[in-house]
Amino acid sequence: MTQNLADASGPASVTAAEPIAASAGASRGWWRDAVIYQVYPRSFADSNGDGMGDLPGIRSRLPYLRDLGVDAVWLSPFYASPQADAGYDVSDYRAVDPMFGTLLDADGLIRDAHALGLRIIVDLVPNHSSDQHEWFQRALREGPGSPLRDRYHFRPGKGENGELPPNNWESIFGGPAWTRSVNPDGTPGEWYLHLFAPEQPDFNWENRAVADEFRSILRFWLDMGVDGFRIDVAHGMVKQAGLPDIGGEGDQLKLLGNDVMPFFDQDGVHQIYRDWRKILDEYPGQRIGVAEAWTPTVQRTANYVRPDELHQAFNFQYLGTSWAADELREVIDVSLDSMRPVGAPTTWVLSNHDVTRHATRFANEPGLGTQIRTAGDRELGLRRARAASLLMLALPGSAYVYQGEELGLPDVTDLPDEVRQDPSFLRASGQDGFRDGCRVPIPWSGTEAPYGFGPAAGGPSWLPQPAEWADLSVEVQTGDPTSTLELYRSALAVRREHPALGAGTDVTWLDAPEGVLAFRRDSAQGSFVCTSNTTGAPVRMAAPGRILLSSADTEAADGEILLAADSTVWWAV
Ligand code: GLC
Ligand code: CA
Repeated sequence: MTQNLADASGPASVTAAEPIAASAGASRGWWRDAVIYQVYPRSFADSNGDGMGDLPGIRSRLPYLRDLGVDAVWLSPFYASPQADAGYDVSDYRAVDPMFGTLLDADGLIRDAHALGLRIIVDLVPNHSSDQHEWFQRALREGPGSPLRDRYHFRPGKGENGELPPNNWESIFGGPAWTRSVNPDGTPGEWYLHLFAPEQPDFNWENRAVADEFRSILRFWLDMGVDGFRIDVAHGMVKQAGLPDIGGEGDQLKLLGNDVMPFFDQDGVHQIYRDWRKILDEYPGQRIGVAEAWTPTVQRTANYVRPDELHQAFNFQYLGTSWAADELREVIDVSLDSMRPVGAPTTWVLSNHDVTRHATRFANEPGLGTQIRTAGDRELGLRRARAASLLMLALPGSAYVYQGEELGLPDVTDLPDEVRQDPSFLRASGQDGFRDGCRVPIPWSGTEAPYGFGPAAGGPSWLPQPAEWADLSVEVQTGDPTSTLELYRSALAVRREHPALGAGTDVTWLDAPEGVLAFRRDSAQGSFVCTSNTTGAPVRMAAPGRILLSSADTEAADGEILLAADSTVWWAV
């Protein structure tokens, strides 16, 4: 089942791609200030016109990412998968799904990226496999008592005939977290645990074969030359002993992220990362691990990046913050304070493939959560998104950019229900699961869909793109100084150049009018100030220096400036 480089067509490659040569920042850790661009392979670039993005497509667009000025690319899963959850249901961790290409394509992508100075981070999905994974299929076939069943969580049901699930846990995607299996003789059998879709059975990490297999999978991709792993559901692998019921029946989803659950953020999970860190450290070139850990507080997130664990963790508290100066200041302080004791860089993120794009979140009233279905005030949303992105890129540490946010793309809130593929939408009867809206293929060029996403005008795309996206393409925005794309390009260039930007552990807050966030960052070679007006009206204030970059037109005269509504300005001091 496992693909072999030598099996793939084309010249067999026998050596791993070379790691990127040590650069200036490498001694203190390249990831400490890296801007990491998330590619969602289905929706980035389609090389063969089947409507689905693929690895050769990504490979062909690497120069765009180099020119944009990012340091690394994180690829969402492209492994063999029945696609019950868009690839987060992996059936073979060492194979590329034919829909995305071959292992040789992955090898070429890693080599080309390194040649351009870009690092590659791949997604690792260790909490669960696909139900089509060989281990799970064999466990089903062999029936109760099979040792293979211990690699997952199989349990007899409760009730007289085992007709009730073993506990009351609910799936994140809606419905019970247990599904009853069918015995080889066709009778109803044991239940198995799946925190996500029924097609995603959870591994039992107490079983040594599971731990051994993932060590081997890590090495497989490290040997291929990848620079790191984004670890999916990094807070989920260890379950509380005995799998106890939880309180708050019917309301469990709301508890997520507010509490330590018997299946999330258990202390035992950290042993896995201590083990993996040793493997990462065996390889040259600073290979990293990034935790996707939804925890109740940034303080608990910091546990995942203690010195002997992973290198980074996503800052979802920041992602969930509204466009409001006081709230932003608080989350920035808490984030920096939480990471300082463990010595890990703080990270910042506004969008990813699981949440409504920030241009649309900020177009709506605050408090609607991270999956919303209304377009809101587009113009306002874009203005705030540009300001928020500039603020994020000014903060100390590493930042994540989700494909298309550099184009100012909104979420597609009006996708017809028939085209939606989010398993959560289907399971929760359309009450939840609007993640397809941020997964629509991005526009590159031309006036007709799929706007350069695929090779032919009029060709297919797996989700339909809105007609307005013709005006948001890379081609249209390139060279237009007012475009969001050029704003990102300039911001990333300034961020690279300015000595006070990038890595760091603190900011100095400056006095500012109500609703304005102002901070300074210092370095021996010069200081930098960022001012963000989160209010809907222009604010007059003293100019702190010389304007480097601005997300909106800013008037400056006689040492004073009029900071435009919902805007951010970068200053050299
Ligand atoms: C993570 C992924 C999400 C996926 C889930 C289950 O949260 O980001 O897309 O559905 O894990 O693997
Ligand atoms: Ca394709």
